[in-house]
Amino acid sequence: MKIKARHTFLFLSILFLAYSISIYMQPLSNTGNTSFNKETAAQGRLVWQKYNCQSCHQLYSLGGYLGPDLTNVISQPKKGEALVRTMVKTGIKQMPAFTISEMEMSQLVEFLKSVDASGNADLRKFRKDNLGMIEAHENK
Ligand code: HEC
Repeated sequence: MKIKARHTFLFLSILFLAYSISIYMQPLSNTGNTSFNKETAAQGRLVWQKYNCQSCHQLYSLGGYLGPDLTNVISQPKKGEALVRTMVKTGIKQMPAFTISEMEMSQLVEFLKSVDASGNADLRKFRKDNLGMIEAHENK
């Protein structure tokens, strides 16, 4: 009986160790192919705050819900850096056009690249209504 308990303990310990190792072996970020400059991205975070993009947009599904989630705007097909630059300069619907220097723009883009490299926000969970408002919805 004593030996059995010891075996169970040993078995579970090995399982725990193996599982922990497998978890720690997984990369922290999901892509690895979106490279970004850390310093510039940090500056870009300040630009993001300065122009209050978060009041209308979400990162990782958190933020204002007037505009779409921008977590993966850089890597989404047909979107990316060019779209960000255009939208910020011209504005669209409820989004105002921003007067922003080229330096701030590149910092902002770098920040969005760093966000993109850090995780995924599943856009299939969001639906845009005909006023451009974003609604969260499940399984549709
Ligand atoms: C007053 C609210 C508001 C603010 C502030 C705002 N946006 Fe927007 N933005 C919107 C709305 C609304 C849309 C979506 C319009 C549409 O296509 O229906 C949008 C669209 C976009 C898009 C296109 C996204 C896509 O997937 O098509 C990008 C990129 C974007 N905004 C970037 C920014 C950035 C960067 C800032 C900060 C400098 C910012 N926005 C500030 C409201 C805002």
